[in-house]
Amino acid sequence: MDCFDFLKKIDDKAVDLAVIDPPYNLRKAKWDTFKSHDDFLDFTYKWIDALIPKLKRNGTLYIFNTPYNSAFILSYLVNKGLVFQNWITWDKRDGMGGAKKKYSNGQETILFFTKNKNHVFNYNDIRLPYDSTERIAHAKIKGILKNGKRWFPNPNGKLCGEVWHITSERHKNKVNGKTPKMPHLTPKPLDIVERIVRASSNKGDIILDCFMGIGTTAVAAKKLGRNFIGCDSSKKYISLANKRIKTGKI
Ligand SMILES: C[S@@+](CC[C@H](N)C(=O)[O-])C[C@H]1O[C@@H](n2cnc3c(N)ncnc32)[C@H](O)[C@@H]1O
Repeated sequence: MDCFDFLKKIDDKAVDLAVIDPPYNLRKAKWDTFKSHDDFLDFTYKWIDALIPKLKRNGTLYIFNTPYNSAFILSYLVNKGLVFQNWITWDKRDGMGGAKKKYSNGQETILFFTKNKNHVFNYNDIRLPYDSTERIAHAKIKGILKNGKRWFPNPNGKLCGEVWHITSERHKNKVNGKTPKMPHLTPKPLDIVERIVRASSNKGDIILDCFMGIGTTAVAAKKLGRNFIGCDSSKKYISLANKRIKTGKI
């Protein structure tokens, strides 16, 4: 189903968390191709307008895109009165191209916005291992003096920052050094979406994704005990997503 028809069917203030991975206008497929940047922005602002009323009063919205497009989207969301939380940089451990007149692209942006400041954020559920193991081993015993107080490391790891070093799906699934053909052109890594779901929702919450692709958000939601609703305009992707949701396998 098209996202605009789908969003019309959802009650206002019904969604706890929206995880949105929309077209980027990179012309990788028909669904990712727009006549101009302005046309792309018109489409983007239209689905954002349709989506915002569906979020609960303390709901949360994550939007993936290129850094360039995200600059426009950020400004639009701020003007709509949403609360900016983070510009998350996803370091893809991958190259998007072989630029010779500028630095090669290797990142995507994930904008994290909330409707108000009363949002869910389970920072303890997304802790990461500390980087300096030696220093931490020492600190566990004696602590480290910080501003006159002794600091002891958290046994569950450090707080999660806003730069995420996560290998893209294409590069994660290499066979004999070659990147395999994926069933979807641009699937998001499950670990990224799981981190978002853990941090910004609770068990039983409703998560929405109106550009589902092969269902990464739905799979993460199901695995973590959340409910999900979503659509994609491609029948082929929906059928792959349904299979994946059932079996857990791509
Ligand atoms: C970037 S992909 C999403 C990939 C997904 N996150 C995953 O991990 O599989 C964007 C998706 O949007 C879908 N799409 C494009 N235009 C749409 C529209 N107007 N309504 C609904 N889906 C649309 C495409 O078919 C594509 O699968």
